Amino acid sequence: MAKEKENKNKKTGQIKKTVNVGILGFGTVGSGTARILVENKDLLSARLGFPVTLKKIADLDIKKDRGIALGKDVLTTDARQVTDNPDIDIVVELIGGLGVARQLMMRAIKNGKHIVTANKALLAEHGQEIFGAAKKCGVNVGFEASVGGGIPIIKALGEGLIANRINYVYGIVNGTSNYILTKMTNEGVEFSKVLKEAQELGYAEADPTLDVGGADSAHKLAILASLAFGIPLSYESVYTEGITGITPLDISFASELGFKIKLLAIAKAADGQVELRVHPTMLPKDYLISKVDGVMNAIYVNGQETGDTLYYGRGAGDMPTGSAVVSDIAGIAQRIMSGAPPKSGLGAIKMKKSGPPMGLRRMDEVESMYYFRFSALDRPMVLSKISGVLGENNISIASVIQKGRKEGGAVPLVILTHKAMERNVRKALKKIDSLRAVVTGKTCLIRVEGEE
Ligand code: NDP
Ligand code: HSE
Repeated sequence: MAKEKENKNKKTGQIKKTVNVGILGFGTVGSGTARILVENKDLLSARLGFPVTLKKIADLDIKKDRGIALGKDVLTTDARQVTDNPDIDIVVELIGGLGVARQLMMRAIKNGKHIVTANKALLAEHGQEIFGAAKKCGVNVGFEASVGGGIPIIKALGEGLIANRINYVYGIVNGTSNYILTKMTNEGVEFSKVLKEAQELGYAEADPTLDVGGADSAHKLAILASLAFGIPLSYESVYTEGITGITPLDISFASELGFKIKLLAIAKAADGQVELRVHPTMLPKDYLISKVDGVMNAIYVNGQETGDTLYYGRGAGDMPTGSAVVSDIAGIAQRIMSGAPPKSGLGAIKMKKSGPPMGLRRMDEVESMYYFRFSALDRPMVLSKISGVLGENNISIASVIQKGRKEGGAVPLVILTHKAMERNVRKALKKIDSLRAVVTGKTCLIRVEGEE
């Protein structure tokens, strides 16, 4: 073990020999975090120059064997032994959700504890309250694990790219959805068959609709965009669509057209406005991001000075996420030991001033290329009626595929467009979907990124 330094807190003058940590929630990420703190204790101590001690872990079930060697009084069912414990410096919230996690976090902050959390939902939806309270109480909030699992994307944005104006951030930030889309693509299976496997592997949220409905990606995008563009957390303004409507048929058409379908989270700044959107996206197969499969995440950040930078790694799971949690614990522990003030300014989440978030582009005004799959009646004039409505709405066609023959019935008719405005697309599809002599059901729409 490294020789322990005696750290004198500049503010209090007290000598502190160790930083003590308490964990709330001993589930997937709680176990990964505890394992790293226990098994890499000497390594961390050598790197930091002082030990970090895991004092307490609170969970509802403390009987279950999680295969980690813990001291005899470490486990408790009483969360207040963590939040109210005078010996604990850093409280790590790994319960998840917006209920008890929020109450316990606020309690810990008011008790002067520094916070580390992986709870992107809580930060994205109640971040103003949490960061506001932390500022008032003079404590740090570490949230590296909230986006990208083991990828240090929060530090990259807040520190590594601090010299840059950011033009855009986009990527695959939900491991569960990426795992499902990958399996659907590789094995041609239906969506519903794959979800269960992702849950069993510990990637999915307690409520998996957050993953597949896109909300988890939207939570993460709100956090990334706040750091990248200095805007307040704007979760409620993220346009969000999940992957539940993606079918093997669309995956197979995408492949034929040279694309893969990925759930993308996109934040782009242009003309003084930021657009925030999460939706399934067709991407050219030869793009690097199209090759990001399974539970892996990848995030592009384009800085004015750096150009494109790409961050890739495991976006979920006990050990990768535990690694991100422990990196925050280590960073905060160093600040505690040196008496440094809590982090603020650049690289910190922005506080909302008043009124609605400024400078956000409405989804209606976003421009994209589109894939439409119409359930088109197989009869003369249908294609010309569809293309007529698209033309009336200023939507220009790039290519058309029609497969099969079903006289009197419906066949899939696929159209790829050039760049068009979302408002016009919605208007056109509403009109086309109402033409009973043209289509038999709702048109499938998937946005397309890439070169025109
Ligand atoms: P888990 O459900 O695996 O773990 C949460 C644990 O907290 C469970 O053991 C749960 O017990 C326990 N718990 C519930 N209520 C209390 C309470 N009042 N006091 C003490 N413990 C309690 O969740 P994860 O580890 O997967 O997720 C934790 C957080 O990390 C979430 O915010 C999630 O979004 C985030 N995250 C998860 C990742 C992953 O790969 N799983 C990756 C990145 C972030 P019980 O099961 O009995 O309810
Ligand atoms: N449920 C999330 C995912 C966990 O699948 O990516 C990581 O945040």
